[in-house]
Amino acid sequence: MEDWNMKIIVTKDYEESCKVVAGFLIQQVQKIPESKLGLATGGTAEGVYPILVEACRQGEVDFSKVTTVNLDEYEGMDPDSEQSYLTYMNKRFLIPAGIDSTKAYVPSGMNDPEKEIALFNEKLYGDDHLIDIQLLGIGVSGHIGFNEPAEELTAGVHIQKLDEGTIQANSRFFENPDDVPREAITMGVGDIMKAAKIVLIATGENKASVIRKLLMDDQITSSVPATVLKMHRDATIVIDKSLAESAGWKD
Ligand code: F6R
Repeated sequence: MEDWNMKIIVTKDYEESCKVVAGFLIQQVQKIPESKLGLATGGTAEGVYPILVEACRQGEVDFSKVTTVNLDEYEGMDPDSEQSYLTYMNKRFLIPAGIDSTKAYVPSGMNDPEKEIALFNEKLYGDDHLIDIQLLGIGVSGHIGFNEPAEELTAGVHIQKLDEGTIQANSRFFENPDDVPREAITMGVGDIMKAAKIVLIATGENKASVIRKLLMDDQITSSVPATVLKMHRDATIVIDKSLAESAGWKD
């Protein structure tokens, strides 16, 4: 029988969550070495990548045949800068895991937006291979990728104006809060939903209210974009005990 409900995993702490999430990705690549991985950046995903790299070093998994597509990038961000998602991915995963740069796509925020959207779509759909597993975080606004709350959500790749809450939350990665870009290029919710499998990792008390809306009622609302995941056939939400408690979630 098919299971249409999100699966919820509550771990003892953030480290354990990272191990669980890394396990999903490792299993996928062990099973299908040519898997297409949808990847995320951000503080929460940061703990997942060293586990993948270590598993690779130990010979448990080989990432050399995968292709990867990242969720998003800030508009106007220089790919060579410290804060770019390309730098983040290269440093934490792509280079240490031995993934050839021609097989990894992190969108550019410097290219002409129309051209970059076309290239993004080419990377998502041009090879007739949909994403096998998509790693997600969740923003304080309830965003996935950079799909912010709005009256309507966008299905496909687009340029997204960032929410004030997102700008504030992400200012921790910049010297000056004014330096946080105001727009991003992102997969749309439709692109994310096409992934065969989705794994979302969340931690921290500031995510409690959106996690509550994701797990504890039956509403799907564009005011919390992550709630679209309730319609996915194979989505797993991994949270630690402390976040589960703040959100009021009980198994
Ligand atoms: C990052 C992304 C975002 C983050 C989210 C959570 O590529 O798409 O949706 O996953 O903003 O970020 P952190 O983990 O920094 O709270």
